[in-house]
Parts: sequence; C-alpha cells; structure tokens
Amino acid sequence: MLALRLIERKRDGGRIDAGEWRALANAYAAGHIPDYQMAALLMACFLRGLDRAETNALTDAMLRSGETLDLSELGRPRIDKHSTGGVGDKVSIVLAPLIASLGVAVPMMSGRGLGHTGGTLDKLDSIPGFDTHLSLDTAKQLIGTLNAALMGQTSTIAPADRKMYALRDATGTVESIPLIAASIMSKKLAEGLTGLVLDVKRGSGAFLPTMGIELAQMMIEIGADHDCPVVALLTAMDRPLGRACGNALEVEEAILALRGEGPPDLMRVTYALGAEMLVLAGVTRDYDDAHRQMERQIGTGHAAEHFQRIIEAQGGNPAVVDDPAILPQAAEVELFSAPRRGFVSRVEPRAIGRGIIALGGGRTTMEDRIDLSVGFVITARPGDWVEQGEPLATIFAKDRPGVEQGRAALRTAILIADEADPPLPLVSHRVTAAGVEVLESA
Ligand code: URA
Repeated sequence: MLALRLIERKRDGGRIDAGEWRALANAYAAGHIPDYQMAALLMACFLRGLDRAETNALTDAMLRSGETLDLSELGRPRIDKHSTGGVGDKVSIVLAPLIASLGVAVPMMSGRGLGHTGGTLDKLDSIPGFDTHLSLDTAKQLIGTLNAALMGQTSTIAPADRKMYALRDATGTVESIPLIAASIMSKKLAEGLTGLVLDVKRGSGAFLPTMGIELAQMMIEIGADHDCPVVALLTAMDRPLGRACGNALEVEEAILALRGEGPPDLMRVTYALGAEMLVLAGVTRDYDDAHRQMERQIGTGHAAEHFQRIIEAQGGNPAVVDDPAILPQAAEVELFSAPRRGFVSRVEPRAIGRGIIALGGGRTTMEDRIDLSVGFVITARPGDWVEQGEPLATIFAKDRPGVEQGRAALRTAILIADEADPPLPLVSHRVTAAGVEVLESA
C-alpha cells in the first residue's frame, strides 16, 4: 500500500518525506516492492522533480540501505574523485596512486563501462591478476597500509541504488538531475569520505552535455548536508581525453602519465583535480604548492612505485609499470590517415566510444564480455592542421574485419574541414558551495 500511495502523491505533485524514502528504499532493496511500482514512482520523480530535502532524504535512504566503509579510525583525510564519465578518461588510474603517495587515503570505488563511456574497473581488468572485487574489510586494510584501494561497488554498498539505477536504465528515467545526484552521492558517501572532488564532463560526449553546473551544485548541496565538502570542476568532453581510448591502451597511457610521459591535456586535468583533492585534504592550502608536490611525486618515480605497490597488493603483476607490453595486445595494429588536407574540426567522443564497442572493447549489456586489447590511439586534436595522408590515429583490433570497423568509426568521428571552431576549454568552471567560478571561458 505504501508504494501506491506514494506513487499517486508524487504523480500529483506532492512530496515524499525522509521516513517514507527510508521505508521505500529498505522495502525495495529487500524485494518487498515490485519493479513495476518502483518504475512508476521513479517516472513520477523524473517528471515532477525532487526538492533539496527530498533529494537529500533519497540519498540518505539509499546510503543506509546497505553497509558503509568506516575509515574514521585511520585519522587521515579520505578523499575520492568521481567523474561523470567520458571517453579516454583514465584520470582515476593516475590520481589514486599519485594522491595516495602524498599521504591522503583514496578509497576509490569505480564502475564498469556502459553506453559509449568506459569504466575504470574494466580498464584495471587489463592488468594481469589485478582483483577489484574487494570486500569492505580488505579495502579497509589496503587503505590502512597503502592509502588506496581500487575497487568495485560491493553488493552490500547502497543496494537500493543498485536496483533502482538498473531499473532506471531500463525505463527511461536516468537523465534526471536529482535522481543522478542522489544515486552517485549515495555510493560516494558510503566510502566514509572527508571530501569529494567531482569531474563533471561537458560537451557532446558527456552524459548530460549541458547540465553540468546544475548537477554539480546538487551534489555539492548533498555533500554539505552530509558533512562531506564537495568541489566540482567542469572539464571538456567534446573530444576524448588524452590519446588512448580503449581499456588496456588507457592503462598504458595512465602508466606513462605516472612516469612523467603523459599527454598534456590528461596531465592538466589530472593536476587540476589532484590539486583540489590535496587542498580538501588539508595537505596544502596553496594550489601552486599542490601542483609542485604532484610533479615531484611523478618526477622522482614515487607515484609510479606507489602504483606498483597497489597493483601487487591487489594481486596484479607490478612489472606492468616498467613494461606495459605485459598488458593485453591487439593482433592487428594499423594507421588511420587523413582523407584530405584541412583542419581537424571534430574528434567526436560518442563515435569513438561506439567504435570501441564495435571492436569488442565495450558493452551493450552488463553481461557482455569485452576484449581489453582493442581501441584507438588518436593523435589528431581539434584545431590541428593536417595534410592528406598524414596519420591521425592508430587502430588496435583483434582481426581484419575489426580494422575495417575501426576505420569506419574513425571516418565518422574525425572530421576534417576548411575551418574549425575552437574546442571547449579543458577546465572551464570550478563549482563550490560558495558559487561558480569561470576558469576559462569558451
Ligand atoms: N551514475 C550513477 O551512479 N547513477 C546515475 O544515476 C547516473 C550515473
């Protein structure tokens, strides 16, 4: 009866209070509310929206439907970074060891790729032996000794969100700012954080291409209501981040970044987010100093060594940091060249992401098995001038038909024209509880 009453009330524009959200989340997680009723309720929320108190209460209800990681006895700041998802986004794999090597605990709980965007867990699977299926006890132990654990959401973390997110995915109710904000924050708050940095993507390859600031503000409000300060940076996803797109290829690029050989755009986003993490953690109050500390950890090799320790502790082969050739290798490797001279006007992330799926490197359903070796390394950047026949990218495929599929994807994704509009600024806005700061305008 509870669900029906609440569906009708929400349908008619009413509110659901904190106690009701809690009862709903617990009953749904326990299987006492059928999917059809929850789907109807979620659609009513999608259409009618949720106010701040309701969004907060829903977050809290989903958070409390399961277990949480209690890291309070560590006595160290605990900061995570969350990205709203993109193509070529391997920042988490660089940031976790880098920031952990500076004494900040980073309980990094990541997801798998779905749709055109990749997922950190899939990328990490390409490191031979690396195990991301950690129990909360193991994660706690790893964070205690190495300041980091790279793991998936366990079945006991926010189980109500797990079920609701899957249901939303199948019922056209994902793209709602309060539902997304509550869903992400319920999982992040379960990590027992003292601060959170959000990388909110904007541009054609982003999940919500134009609603980044609103989403960031809502997550900042939820964080504030849960004693977890949140800072968001808006970063460009109108082209892939870095050059490598595809699971093992991205791990290789992340390793290069930790060794000081990362591409400039990847390093800029990594340092911008990392500086926010270090300031939130209280390691420094000065952004220039934060940059210097991160550059030193990379320059001295300490960040790369720290990644080796994390890999070893999670059952993986640490030799991969010195020899990325240990990662899965594609059978076919071929260059893709410019069909004409002109400016590179677009490198479209969605088309690249779909190309990776066509090569077998991404999923269309959660059950799909993926080929970790395939993908693209794209050296062409929007705005570059290229001559006909000049290499723009490399295709990594499992066989000849794969190479042709890769070619078709790149023909759609990389556009050459007589002129090119400037791409979005890489790190454009900083959003905090105090307001929105424009860092670089388009
Ligand atoms: N990621 C999540 O975890 N939840 C959403 O609702 C959307 C993206």
